[in-house]
Amino acid sequence: MPDLIGFGESKLLTQLVMHGKSRRTQLNQASPVTRHASSAECRIKTTTMLTTFELLQKYDVPGPRYTSYPTVPIWRPSVGAADYISSINKAVGAHPLSLYFHIPFCKKLCHFCGCMHVITKDHSRSRPYVDALLIEMDHIIKALKNSNRDCSQIHFGGGTPNFLPPEEISRIMQRVRDNFNILPSAEIAIEMHPREDPDMQRFCDTLKTEGFNRISLGVQDFNDEIQKLINRFQSFATTKGMIDYLKKIGLEHFNFDLIYGLPGQNSIDQFKDTLAKTIFLKPNRIACYSYAHVPWVHPVQRSFKDTDIPTPEQKLRLFETAINFFTTHGYHLIGIDHFADEGDELYAALKNKSIHRNFMGYSTRADAHQIGLGVSSISFVGGHYFQNHKTIEAYTTAVIQRGLATHRGFMLSADDTIRRSLITEIMCHREVDFKEFGARQNIDFHSYFKDDLKLLTGFVDDGLITLDADGLKITPRGYLVVRNIAMCFDKYLDEIKKNARNPVFSRTV
Ligand SMILES: C[S@@+](CC[C@H](N)C(=O)[O-])C[C@H]1O[C@@H](n2cnc3c(N)ncnc32)[C@H](O)[C@@H]1O
Ligand code: SF4
Repeated sequence: MPDLIGFGESKLLTQLVMHGKSRRTQLNQASPVTRHASSAECRIKTTTMLTTFELLQKYDVPGPRYTSYPTVPIWRPSVGAADYISSINKAVGAHPLSLYFHIPFCKKLCHFCGCMHVITKDHSRSRPYVDALLIEMDHIIKALKNSNRDCSQIHFGGGTPNFLPPEEISRIMQRVRDNFNILPSAEIAIEMHPREDPDMQRFCDTLKTEGFNRISLGVQDFNDEIQKLINRFQSFATTKGMIDYLKKIGLEHFNFDLIYGLPGQNSIDQFKDTLAKTIFLKPNRIACYSYAHVPWVHPVQRSFKDTDIPTPEQKLRLFETAINFFTTHGYHLIGIDHFADEGDELYAALKNKSIHRNFMGYSTRADAHQIGLGVSSISFVGGHYFQNHKTIEAYTTAVIQRGLATHRGFMLSADDTIRRSLITEIMCHREVDFKEFGARQNIDFHSYFKDDLKLLTGFVDDGLITLDADGLKITPRGYLVVRNIAMCFDKYLDEIKKNARNPVFSRTV
């Protein structure tokens, strides 16, 4: 079992708890990694292992989650539908497509939520929204020219896709089948919020009929008190009932979403209870996300009392508990926050290095062009990013008037593409073989990343990575700061910081 941050330091932890208030103040003053910091500035100690307190002081800073690179704050409104179409036209024919449908509706607002959602109980909103999705899909199909393109992945995300009546799911899938060649090996996945719903079984039956083969269930935490705090009520029996039914009809592959660092999660034993209930239900894959507290984007998060939110060291303890628990129960840690069982294709992809990271999390379909449909959806086509309008009104109007709803994006330079590839490798594999990476990108790694490599000195000194001429490898202790390590290769952080009027990123711990 990895003891990631040396939590044997119980005396130290007691001191930290006693001095919680002043510590939080200090952490709030911490600044992100500055690309142009000299290696001397990065260096605190060369021989002694940092205490947990020092580690947090130094590394708990605002930072991207790198579901894209360059990150969204740097994307430009000047990149629009014409660039998107031109990228679709130029995109190499041999690559399959990954289709993402964003269904924004949710019946009730979970107070922790950082996703793009529209809260409504009005189910009549489904039909016009799906109409808009189909108009957008028709325009994409037209731009692709060559009809019947291979499709290796279809993903319904949200919001809550099971807000839609089953007929609307069928309507979308029918249009996909009519115009794309869904490969026999395609992953067809949907995110669902398990809840009491008389239509649930009919919805699941439709998924089976329509060929879905992976179901991702939002769980977050099974504890009643925490559910009350986060305004999300979902009993263990409800979640289990849904899984039992999915299994009964032959839908065997499912993921769980959990979150660590949620308000009220300040008891390790209580958290372990959620972890135990999770493995009892045997999901093939578990995402255990770090709670992103971004009240400037989602003001409802202000409803949490400061005292309810776990301190950074409590968060580290929760994360360490999750890693220890899942890895001793047959799961493998993938990237920064996912776990997969031995038979899951994500684990196979980790072993053969074909794993990929995008705004859906970790994916096994690295070679596919991603076509995002729906409000706020992101596409990655021909090596460039495009994002749709972020309100349902703007999205629907744009689609009805022009067929597409692109409102910003980013055209990657050759350097961006190389850095994106490197950051993805760090976020997925936590190690980089310099020679192999350099050969793949046709660069000499050491001279290309000469300045960036200097920023790693502090991480080496703190025992968070090992670094030599052949490559870098993040140590178990460094698993906590993978985002910080990736930040060393992000050339836009200074620009983002300079232009930001509000905070931009959640904190890295
Ligand atoms: C679109 S939701 C999943 C489907 C469905 N809406 C639900 O909640 O069950 C995607 C996932 O994002 C994660 N998430 C949402 N807000 C978050 C936040 N502030 N920090 C970390 N993870 C978050 C949750 O684990 C959630 O299950
Ligand atoms: S967590 Fe899921 S169900 Fe809750 S508001 Fe966010 S998207 Fe909707």
